[in-house]
Parts: sequence; structure tokens; C-alpha cells
Amino acid sequence: MNPASRSPVAPVTALLEARGVTRRYGDGRRRVDALRRVDLAVPPGARIGIVGESGSGKSTLVRLLAALDRPTSGETLFRGRRTSGVPERGLADLRSSVQLVFQDPRSSLDPRMTVGRIVTEPLRSRRLRHRGDVPSPSADRLQEVLAGVGLAPELAHRYPHELSGGQRQRVAIARALAPDPEVLIADEPVSALDVAVRAHVLNLLADLVRARGLTLVFVSHDLAVVRLLCDTVVVMKDGVIVEQGSMEEVYDRPRDPYTAALLAAVPRLRS
Ligand SMILES: Nc1ncnc2c1ncn2[C@@H]1O[C@H](COP(=O)(O)OP(=O)(O)OP(=O)(O)O)[C@@H](O)[C@H]1O
Ligand SMILES: [Mg+2]
Repeated sequence: MNPASRSPVAPVTALLEARGVTRRYGDGRRRVDALRRVDLAVPPGARIGIVGESGSGKSTLVRLLAALDRPTSGETLFRGRRTSGVPERGLADLRSSVQLVFQDPRSSLDPRMTVGRIVTEPLRSRRLRHRGDVPSPSADRLQEVLAGVGLAPELAHRYPHELSGGQRQRVAIARALAPDPEVLIADEPVSALDVAVRAHVLNLLADLVRARGLTLVFVSHDLAVVRLLCDTVVVMKDGVIVEQGSMEEVYDRPRDPYTAALLAAVPRLRS
């Protein structure tokens, strides 16, 4: 090991990183540059909120960070190793360390699987990858995972369509957290939920993130929600990052006029 890399002043390797990433969809008159030369580093333990108007490129960016899509140019990395242009079999470390929760749990949960199967599936695939060295998920582990997101044990036998929206989103969170990931990427995980359920799921998420020291990348339209969960905020507009900084800096002294406008549109933030 290079001794310099152990020095306390050595920069921390980001868990996830985008370097000069451009993502172009379509061509000719249909061409859309969803991201334009975006740089973003997610250090271990960071809780980053990504905000910005609809169509600004938030989902495109997190999909690229998670290597669910590949950039048109530039590169993405996980723990300093390139993930863009790498075949799926080279992404096992990323797949087990980074989990995702999306906006609409109805479309992200397999309708043919019971809740019990859905939340233990990631544990089973990890077991396969380790050629059986990891024990099969036990009934106890399943109950523990469900209890962790406030779901009753008997829900394990139900199918997604037999649950409420809030229950489904908690199943999606349970599935993401069951394999004990280092990073959770959540793309508008509560926007489909009604206000009361939303508050419940958000508080749950805030508790889980703190209790596990998770690194979080959280996409939201709602600045108040980002403030509750995150310590850093990234503001996007038209495929670029227009502002980035600690929550206090950006909220108290927005430098970009777009951020100021976004903040002014929030009814009133409780501090
Ligand atoms: N598969 C696709 N094909 C063509 N254009 C796309 C595709 N996905 C996204 N886009 C375009 O890329 C731009 C960025 O989309 P993206 O979904 O990243 O925005 P977003 O910030 O997540 O928006 P929202 O807040 O509405 O979810 C938009 O102009 C969108 O229309
Ligand atoms: Mg989106």
C-alpha cells in the first residue's frame, strides 16, 4: 500500500462518483441532453439530497450512479473503480452495496411474489453469489426485517396488490435494507403517498439512515423533506448542477438565483 494513502490528509475515495457525465437521449430534433458534463462525488457517510424542477436530470443522474444506465460520455465510479461500460458480471460489489428505492412501489415490486419472498430475495441472491457461504435467510431474519420497517409479520404472506401504498413503500425499503447496503439511493420515495403516510415513511427512513450510518442519495422535489434527511444539497437545472453545498449554506445563503427561487416557492421551512 502506498504510505501516502494512509495519511490523514489523503482525500477520501468517494463511494459513488460521476465524472464529466453527459447523458443524451434521442437525436436530431428529438435530442435531449438530460445531463451535461456533471461531476458529483458521494463520500462515505454523506447524506446528499438532489433537488430541482421536473426534467432537470435527477433520475437520470441517480440511475447512472447506480449503473442502471450508461453515460453518453464521461464515467461513473464505485469506490474509485469504473462502473460505466463494465459488463454486469463486473458490478457485483456495487449491486450488493448500493440499493435503490423508487417513487412507485407498485411498479418496482414483483406482483407474483409474496412480501416475504420480495424482502428475502436480495439475501438469497447474495447467498448464490457467495456459493452458499451465507446462510439461507431464516424466518427470524424475515420477521426482523419486516419489524424494522413497522410491518406486521402476517403481511409476509400477502402479495403487493393486497397492501396499501404506504405498506408497499415500506416493503420496498425493507427489501433495499435487508442486504445491509452501504448506500441507499431513493428517488422520490414518498411522492406517491398521502401526507400522513408520507410523514410516517420519512421518519422511518430518517431513523434507519441514522441508526445504520447509511450513505444516502435522496431525490426529491420537496426541500423541506431534503432538509429533514440530508446534510448536503445538490440543486439541478436543465441537466447541470447549479449549486451544491451543506444544507445550511444553501438554505441560508443560496448563491444561485434558481435556488433562491426554489426556496421562495417552499411555503415556509421550519428550522
Ligand atoms: N428514456 C428517455 N428517453 C428520452 N428522454 C428521456 C428519457 N428519460 C428521461 N428523458 C428526458 O431527460 C430529461 C431528464 O429527465 P429525468 O427523468 O432525469 O428528470 P427528473 O429531474 O428526474 O424529473 P422528475 O422530477 O419529473 O422526475 C427530461 O427532459 C426527460 O424528458
Ligand atoms: Mg425523476
